[in-house]
Amino acid sequence: MVAKSATLVMNEMMQHAVAQGRSVINLGFGEAGLPVMPELRKILSADSARNAYPAVQGSYAVRNALSGYFTRRGIPADADHCLMAPGSKALLFALLQALKGDVVLSRPSWVTYAAQSHMLNKHCVWVDAPESAGGVPDPKLLVSALDSARRAGQNPTTLLLTSPDNPSGTVAGRTVIEQLVHIAKEQNLAIISDEIYRDLAYDQVNFVSPAQLAPERTFVTTGLSKSMALGGWRIGAALFPQNAWGDAVMQEVIGTASEIWSGMPIFLEPVAEYCFSEPSDVLQWVNESRQLHQRVSNEIHHIMVDAGASCRKPSGAFYIYPTFHDSEFAHRLGVSEDESLSHELFERFGIAVLPGSAFGDLPQRMGLRVVTSMMYGTDDESRMETMRMADPLQAPSVKDGLERVHEVFAGVPSNR
Ligand SMILES: Cc1ncc(COP(=O)(O)O)c(C=O)c1O
Repeated sequence: MVAKSATLVMNEMMQHAVAQGRSVINLGFGEAGLPVMPELRKILSADSARNAYPAVQGSYAVRNALSGYFTRRGIPADADHCLMAPGSKALLFALLQALKGDVVLSRPSWVTYAAQSHMLNKHCVWVDAPESAGGVPDPKLLVSALDSARRAGQNPTTLLLTSPDNPSGTVAGRTVIEQLVHIAKEQNLAIISDEIYRDLAYDQVNFVSPAQLAPERTFVTTGLSKSMALGGWRIGAALFPQNAWGDAVMQEVIGTASEIWSGMPIFLEPVAEYCFSEPSDVLQWVNESRQLHQRVSNEIHHIMVDAGASCRKPSGAFYIYPTFHDSEFAHRLGVSEDESLSHELFERFGIAVLPGSAFGDLPQRMGLRVVTSMMYGTDDESRMETMRMADPLQAPSVKDGLERVHEVFAGVPSNR
């Protein structure tokens, strides 16, 4: 049976608690927490009368804009190797389906990778992430993990990398990416590089994609759910290697698309074209949202570290991943596994977070995936105001949210 995604279950649990009048601090649901850029609403309404079926691959205009987006990031691309879809989740599934064999995942990594792999009867080869960043397997552990998987009869063919990553909100640096690409070449592995958070990496200049180093074996997925806060509009995109193998995989993914989702919503194509063309208002919007995410993530990071957690400093997106193994905080709560920790936080303090085991982590590490973007405001107007403030930490809902999180993590009385 395929269970409902842990993130969606958490969201529904919070909605239920709020409906019962409980005050909940939402650090659980992975949304950007920002409004739609006003210009996009105008573009959307101008095209709302379009109701024909779309081209499965997406219109040439939108794919052409997407190829420009990749090319400006040092990944030369042409429109023929670009594919649009209703969200990158669908593309990841179709890609995993087309790339036969088993998948190497970083532990922890985004919930959906393992869930989709299991739906496709694939084994997941879990490899701990390096100290420097989540979302990628530690290159030092990768070769022996591949050897053991093969000895156990598995057939790892695909490395799935995410940077910046969910759950840790960190970016893998150049050296790690180079080492992983080197192993992928030696062992003839395909790479899927999930770059949905790429434009939210806090250091845009030094970001390195595996597609820059090994374009012949790297599939890049991206979309507008995070950088443009358009999760509910469902706009995803992929770039395929520009060679015969990439073409064959692409035809298979297009085949799946044609039988399952047909294409992205046609009235959203002009929105996607506009965003991927990156006019100055889009660039400014993404910059402002990135700065806001960085400011608030850093604050929550301090609170977690002060509470005794081990936690990488965030370097992208709107997540942090503290682990509370052997911490005074966990002792005071009287818990020793991540699910009981997240359960206590919700039941006693109304703090909603997801346990690391939902991301494949070991329960005793007591990891929590903390979303930092859900306290920007109570409505679109206040969220927009927060984004535009010189010091967003002074925005009322951010201030209030941070104070409440601080109160809980700094002052939990003993449960024993
Ligand atoms: C790492 C990662 N990849 C992909 C997605 C899904 O993106 P989309 O909205 O394009 O399906 C998410 C959303 O939470 C994510 O965290």
